[in-house]
Amino acid sequence: MRRPEAVFERMGGWAANPRRTMARALNRIAGKLSPGVPVHSPTRAETEGEAHRSMERVLLEGLYDDAIGAAYGIGRRTKEEWVDRFRRNTTELPSGTYWLAHAVLAREILKIPPEVAGDVVECGCYKGASTASLSIVCKAVGRKLLVCDSFEGLPSEVEMRVHHYPHIQVYGYYQAGMYAGNLEEVRSNIARYGELEACRFVPGFYAESLRELRDPIVFAFLDVDLLTSTQECLKAIWPLLREGGLIYTDDSCDVEVVRIWFDGPWWQQELGEPAPGYVGSGCGLYSPTLVSLGYARRVTRPEESYGRVPWLRYPEGGLAGARLPVESIGCDS
Ligand SMILES: C[S@@+](CC[C@H](N)C(=O)[O-])C[C@H]1O[C@@H](n2cnc3c(N)ncnc32)[C@H](O)[C@@H]1O
Repeated sequence: MRRPEAVFERMGGWAANPRRTMARALNRIAGKLSPGVPVHSPTRAETEGEAHRSMERVLLEGLYDDAIGAAYGIGRRTKEEWVDRFRRNTTELPSGTYWLAHAVLAREILKIPPEVAGDVVECGCYKGASTASLSIVCKAVGRKLLVCDSFEGLPSEVEMRVHHYPHIQVYGYYQAGMYAGNLEEVRSNIARYGELEACRFVPGFYAESLRELRDPIVFAFLDVDLLTSTQECLKAIWPLLREGGLIYTDDSCDVEVVRIWFDGPWWQQELGEPAPGYVGSGCGLYSPTLVSLGYARRVTRPEESYGRVPWLRYPEGGLAGARLPVESIGCDS
């Protein structure tokens, strides 16, 4: 499916509509010179384009923040170079993800303290655009990237079930073989656009292939489109995910898929834990820019990982032991 953010991208930027940008600038000047004379009021498309660009700046500044990556000795200049590469990866390779999503994933990986051991996992790589970007970050932070895919596209047992995206008012079906990228093609794309040495490939359909995952995982990114595929990924990855670790997905708006994160009986039966929920369910984080990205956090001991606030109550009373909420994964290695 064409990602909705591409629509905003086409609208965005001065170069996209110089005449309108110029008209708005002249309007602003005219308004100052002749107070009381009505000035141009922005159209909905202009306002949305503006919102998109503001969110883009907010997200990039979130990555460029000096504190992010400092523990790895990674500064702003390196991160800017990465962003150039992320853009290239999603324009020169066929991609199901948007470059700004890669920047968000990069920020999250940089936030994991170096002393917390573990791998990064990607499920769903298609031609390798998101993989190439993740491999750049993984190489820089010294983590292995496990690249898990059939390398034949979506499985043959693809559910002929309708997928609903109520927030963006879209529906449709997936088909077996969609998003295929064979292993050699993906490898050579990563060699060209990413860092092949950071990658270990785990080929095959998830019901079988993910059984070989054994080592601790600090971060995972799922872009697998289907409910059954998401379930297989969760069964293999969640038990290996470190306390405080995140699983991001690119399937937030698909209510058919995202409901699994709230399915208490399924979680108890398959993983022996309560359903963690999903941040960004139905609408994605950072709308209107990144409507398909969201995450779940594995926190089994909230009292050790989260902060306290005056508007909630605590059994031991007051705000004793209060501290600021932590943003990063816990250090229990
Ligand atoms: C939307 S594409 C991923 C797009 C990619 N992240 C990008 O940036 O272009 C979905 C991928 O999930 C893989 N996939 C989905 N279900 C799978 C399963 N059960 N086993 C193995 N691979 C699966 C497909 O082969 C495909 O490569």
